[in-house]
Amino acid sequence: MSDFRPAPAPSDLAFIRFVSVANMMKLIHRIGVETMLADLVRYIEDDFRRWPLFDKTPRVASHSAVGVIELMPTSDGEVYGFKYVNGHPKNTREGLQTVTAFGLLARVDTGYPVLLSEMTMLTALRTAATSAMVARHLAPKGSRTMAMIGNGAQSEFQALAMRKVCGIEELRLYDIDARATEKTVANLRDRGFVLTPCKTAEQAIEGAQIVTTCTADKQYATILTDNMVGSGVHINAIGGDCPGKTELHRDILARSDVFVEYTPQTRIEGEIQQMPDDFPVTEMWQVLTGAAPGRTSDRQITLFDGVGFAIEDFSALRYVRDRLDDTGDYECLDIIADPDDARDLFGMLERARPGNGKS
Ligand SMILES: NC(=O)c1ccc[n+]([C@@H]2O[C@H](COP(=O)([O-])OP(=O)(O)OC[C@H]3O[C@@H](n4cnc5c(N)ncnc54)[C@H](O)[C@@H]3O)[C@@H](O)[C@H]2O)c1
Repeated sequence: MSDFRPAPAPSDLAFIRFVSVANMMKLIHRIGVETMLADLVRYIEDDFRRWPLFDKTPRVASHSAVGVIELMPTSDGEVYGFKYVNGHPKNTREGLQTVTAFGLLARVDTGYPVLLSEMTMLTALRTAATSAMVARHLAPKGSRTMAMIGNGAQSEFQALAMRKVCGIEELRLYDIDARATEKTVANLRDRGFVLTPCKTAEQAIEGAQIVTTCTADKQYATILTDNMVGSGVHINAIGGDCPGKTELHRDILARSDVFVEYTPQTRIEGEIQQMPDDFPVTEMWQVLTGAAPGRTSDRQITLFDGVGFAIEDFSALRYVRDRLDDTGDYECLDIIADPDDARDLFGMLERARPGNGKS
């Protein structure tokens, strides 16, 4: 007697929510980019405040001569998340992006994934939100002018977050490639900033209370030297994020109070890789919870050695997940094989054999 059962249709458990690039852009426009940046600051800050309960590990990096591919996992005990991200500074010369990413959230109790999302856009937003969250605590009060050195994919997001959260009104822009600066000026022209394209990094930092370095180069670069940095500024150094890839001269670090995300990862990847292993740093979650001071004087140079940490991506994915019910900006992906008898995976395969069920 044959035990014929047709291949089952996927059950609800088979599907997870998938946010494509098209849906992510729809979501961002629906919410408004600056509102979403402010929302992400709130989500990231909430997660930084509960920092001790997260699983934390330096990201898992696979280096090649031309770039890096990284996995960034974390969990708060209920939800697990990871991001896949690359960093290939030479890509733009080939018409490709330096950074692309996607990420996933899963339930810890069953291990089943619940959300898969594009994260190239989301990484730009979460990086900008993190920079702004940090600057809100460390930048001089009343900061109005930011130097933006490196005018690539991240730059407009950085500018918009710094305005929304910190009140930045004037941007002084510099890139070794003048076309990148022209692109950023064109994109931000109608958004109410005072925009000043500059011919050198020195010119860009004149009068700036916040200096953002966001360049891409697979080497020890020296975007800022010690003599360029006056007292009292906040440096938001986010482009150096790999072993052998930094942006600041080490003498600047020696004069600054350095703030990081997760020390073990930043010692490998950040500006502080140039310093001894016991070089003092403060983790930002400590500032947010009041366990450590942020800016303590007008003359102090504060330096955010930002490399990007998994908890920021977790927060960003959590935010997207929370906005899907009311926006519907997702599709369902049949991604989990879900046999009707949980132990009969092979039977499910057999029943799906082409021709099965047809007379
Ligand atoms: N910290 C984080 O969380 C985080 C997140 C995303 C990206 N990043 C890093 O930020 C950097 C920028 O990312 P992107 O996506 O904007 O890259 P991008 O390639 O789009 O832009 C980088 C820009 O830097 C410019 N540049 C290179 N060397 C320069 C120099 N010496 N002086 C001035 N400008 C210079 C390039 O011309 C280019 O326009 C990358 O290194 C990336 O890995 C960090």
